Amino acid sequence: MRGIVLAGGTGSRLRPATSAACKQLLPVYDKPMVYYPISVLMLAGIREILLISTPEDLPSFRRLLGDGTHLGLRLEYAVQDAPRGLADAFRIGADFVADENVALVLGDNLFHGSGFSDVLARCVRDLDGAVLVGYEVDDPRGYGVAEIDDRGRLLSLEEKPQNPRSRLAVTGLYFYDPLVVEIARCLRPSARGELEITDVNRTYLEAGRASLVALGRGYAWLDTGTHESLLEASQFVQTLERRQGVRIACLEEIALRQGLIGAEECLELGLRLTGSEYGGYVVGVARSFLDEGPTVLEAV
Ligand code: DAU
Repeated sequence: MRGIVLAGGTGSRLRPATSAACKQLLPVYDKPMVYYPISVLMLAGIREILLISTPEDLPSFRRLLGDGTHLGLRLEYAVQDAPRGLADAFRIGADFVADENVALVLGDNLFHGSGFSDVLARCVRDLDGAVLVGYEVDDPRGYGVAEIDDRGRLLSLEEKPQNPRSRLAVTGLYFYDPLVVEIARCLRPSARGELEITDVNRTYLEAGRASLVALGRGYAWLDTGTHESLLEASQFVQTLERRQGVRIACLEEIALRQGLIGAEECLELGLRLTGSEYGGYVVGVARSFLDEGPTVLEAV
């Protein structure tokens, strides 16, 4: 399976914080926001990733992440020159997807919870058409909203409904078969002028080929579209990391625990970040691997 991180858009709601750098490069506590969705793809076992962003911001992502080989990944980049909608990712990424299954994750979505890697593994394994990831929220009106029956089967999907049929929001993490490229090609822009991911998902639903995995109450799904939600996400990460002494979405640690890089390479990556607590953590993880081998700590 391949992965796409969509990290464009205008970031208009966060100006002037996003006037010189895009939203997905802003920090969520101790690391750039884009680390969180990349960690999700890595935990899903995905090694080939296409990052899509604006012409202005793409060079910064390249500077941050390079070609990914230092993390055992193959990272490619592509430009979205205008925010034409989430489904545009599959038009832009058509050659990259080729005839592989593909996961799309939005560059401003943050997921966390014990056992998340197992959930991801199930999404990848059981994929037949489209798999969506749902999460109950207090007010779903700002999201795609899913309706399911009492056996968890998907009944309907609506984008930002005024009167939602449930509290189940569709998160910004999606799994598709390669047909998604053709479906995206045939889409027409919605009333708000965007190629809607919800229209892609409805096409699968109408063909009886869409399912939804709901994350339970032990999970966190945060997006970071406003100053309040960005601050809350940072505080969430800070609380967990300081209390437990582990880091969420530490890409070097995930690469090490997944065997994509060795402990010596991880140590080298940590030393390059000398002076930061994050770098010190990477060094510590690498040294403990060198001394004791893998520990049972979960790499999320
Ligand atoms: O976060 C989950 C929600 O994401 C889903 O529940 C909705 O169904 C889906 O439409 C989307 O809703 P949003 O209102 O959050 O989408 P937004 O336009 O804010 O875009 C989400 C991210 O994708 C944002 O960081 C900007 C980026 N983006 C957006 C568009 C429209 C792009 O990179 N390119 C684009 O063309």
